[in-house]
Amino acid sequence: MTTTTGATTRTGAFGAARTRVEGREKVTGAARYAGDIPLPDLAHGWMVLSTVALGRISSVETEAVLAMPGVLAVLHHENAPRVNLDYMGTIGRPDPILGVFQNDRVPFMGWPVALVVAERPEQAREAAEALVVRYDQEQHDSAFFGGHPDMYTPADSPFGPAEATKGDVEAELSASTFVVDAEYTTPEEHHNPMEPHAATAHWDGGRLEVLDSNQGSTMVAAELAQIFSLDPASVRVRSEHVGGGFGSKTVRPHQVAAAMAATMLQRPVRVVMTRRQMFSTIGYRSPTAQRVRLGADASGRLRVLDHRSECVTSTVHEFIERGATMARVMYDAEAHHTSDRVVRLDVPTPTFMRAPGDAPGSFALECAFDELAEKTGIDPIALRVRNEPDRGPVSGLPFSSRNLVACYEEGSRRFGWADRDPRPGVRREGRWLLGTGMAAASFHSGAAPSTSAVTAEADGTFTVRINAADIGTGARTAITLVAADGLKVDPERVRVVIADSDLGPAWLAGGSMGTRSWAWAVAIAVDELRGRLALGGDIPPEGITARSDTTEAIGALASKERHSFGAQFAEVAVDITSGEVRVRRMLGIFAAGRIVNPLTARSQLIGGMTWGISMALHEEAIRDRASGGLVSPDLAGYHFAANADVPLIEADWVDDPDPDDPVGIKGIGEIGIVGAAAAVANAVWHATGVRHRNLPIRPDRVLSAGTKVAEPGHAG
Ligand code: MOS
Repeated sequence: MTTTTGATTRTGAFGAARTRVEGREKVTGAARYAGDIPLPDLAHGWMVLSTVALGRISSVETEAVLAMPGVLAVLHHENAPRVNLDYMGTIGRPDPILGVFQNDRVPFMGWPVALVVAERPEQAREAAEALVVRYDQEQHDSAFFGGHPDMYTPADSPFGPAEATKGDVEAELSASTFVVDAEYTTPEEHHNPMEPHAATAHWDGGRLEVLDSNQGSTMVAAELAQIFSLDPASVRVRSEHVGGGFGSKTVRPHQVAAAMAATMLQRPVRVVMTRRQMFSTIGYRSPTAQRVRLGADASGRLRVLDHRSECVTSTVHEFIERGATMARVMYDAEAHHTSDRVVRLDVPTPTFMRAPGDAPGSFALECAFDELAEKTGIDPIALRVRNEPDRGPVSGLPFSSRNLVACYEEGSRRFGWADRDPRPGVRREGRWLLGTGMAAASFHSGAAPSTSAVTAEADGTFTVRINAADIGTGARTAITLVAADGLKVDPERVRVVIADSDLGPAWLAGGSMGTRSWAWAVAIAVDELRGRLALGGDIPPEGITARSDTTEAIGALASKERHSFGAQFAEVAVDITSGEVRVRRMLGIFAAGRIVNPLTARSQLIGGMTWGISMALHEEAIRDRASGGLVSPDLAGYHFAANADVPLIEADWVDDPDPDDPVGIKGIGEIGIVGAAAAVANAVWHATGVRHRNLPIRPDRVLSAGTKVAEPGHAG
């Protein structure tokens, strides 16, 4: 399989800012989301979650509830259909939480124990809240901390080895002129997208039909087929519009519960999760405890890089938040050690959350680099440039492209970095201390097999069919533009049909690989279609269709290190009387492949950076040791950056097409958050002279840490 470069004749489809093709539908309310779609004879299921963190269900007292108005059924471990969880899913083994109502074990607070189904949602809710479930409670342990005695090194996975090492860390540390040895923590964080998880299941002509909100209907359909031991062809999943996912919208208990109930009742059943339920059922980001040791010679060249990250998982499923893996891409050293370790506690299983591993990992690594810059007296950017590797530090593979220095240069110029006084704590505006900081970013750039079909219609339009998911990113629009560009036609003539497992297998909106993987498949089908159209002749009434399957084409990607890169800059003001940190401006410059649609691409990057501010200053889920649950599992108690917290954010990019991709895309969904929290934290140090190594940088932490402020009058 050969691939063509993106350097074909331009139609203007690329590079111009395009609003979303489904934008009108969305803003007028015509777009229907999974929980809104009307169906005749629809029944509603309401999930009941455990109120203890560990134990066994001793009884589910269904009798009183079954007599309540409208109640049709109560599913629980004694009457629910048995399911199969012995399969390998798209992104690993299934999380046992998918095996809802299979046994009496409760492994954490908020585990699904029953589903109450009623004619109307309010009846289901009323009955679910009235349902008495009794437990034989056991003593749980939900308290995560670094250095936990039960911490272990997990087995290597497709995401990389748990530990990688070269050289002698201790020897190089002793030989280093400058040493940084610091510990950092990040708290439990939740992705809770605006649209809750919602699924409607029904049987139609012997097929299980699911209307869902997910990041990939291929994955959800394939896994539901496995779970219910069905022929894959007898499951159809659709997910037309999705109000955010961020890693949480995979196969989750609600689809399984809805399908079980639809099977038992032989009518359509809808299960919509509540916000509170989402805090224990959809995954979250593990807290981390990290230690970074950097040793450099007199010129700032690293002799040693040692990054150890620890995280938590549940007792029923192992998910690793890979905080240490970014160091394997970013910097080389004579001695290089990275490891991710984990402890099993009685807490919900974490999962993929925007920039898994790299979001918390970059906080520690990039703050440690700032500390090294302070120690060596070398500018933070110059120090990073001095440590740019020419090959993958651990893999030894060449980079497909690494335009990080270009990001530093462009970012530095636009942010005004050259005028920065490196001294901390010397800029003051009344009660505000001012500072600036920066950090580097990288995120893996991959592609995964997808199939597509592109049809030249008899009326002169084109139809693209691919089982993509647009979770709000603008993927549908990007695919339209990729097809229009390849076909050399106006995007108005291209119709894109997505989000239906009957369209054939395609990758999900995840790993920053969605649009990249789909565009690749579409570009190949478009090429073939153009070849066939060039032969001339009339288009028959059913049109002419070209199909693609990229399974073979993307195999070659593994021969190189492939990543997006970026440089993050932040300016903060710290109120020394209240401890409040306000971000005043932020700039991110990225080298992230060819940008298809600047409008939606910028919005992805700004969204990630906004989340980085949120991570730096606000987000923190507090787990109560006594109950094992969260103190405030809702969006009132879990504060994330709101409008007033977000200043002017600019995101832009340097030219960086992936040379081995037919479109040149690298993926932009996740890199925006990487390094963003570190840039803010580094700016807080520059403002106050104090390092904050524990996120979030709350006012109480700022106040109790104090400041190391120079005499007033030193202009900065
Ligand atoms: Mo993203 S966390 O890979 O959905």
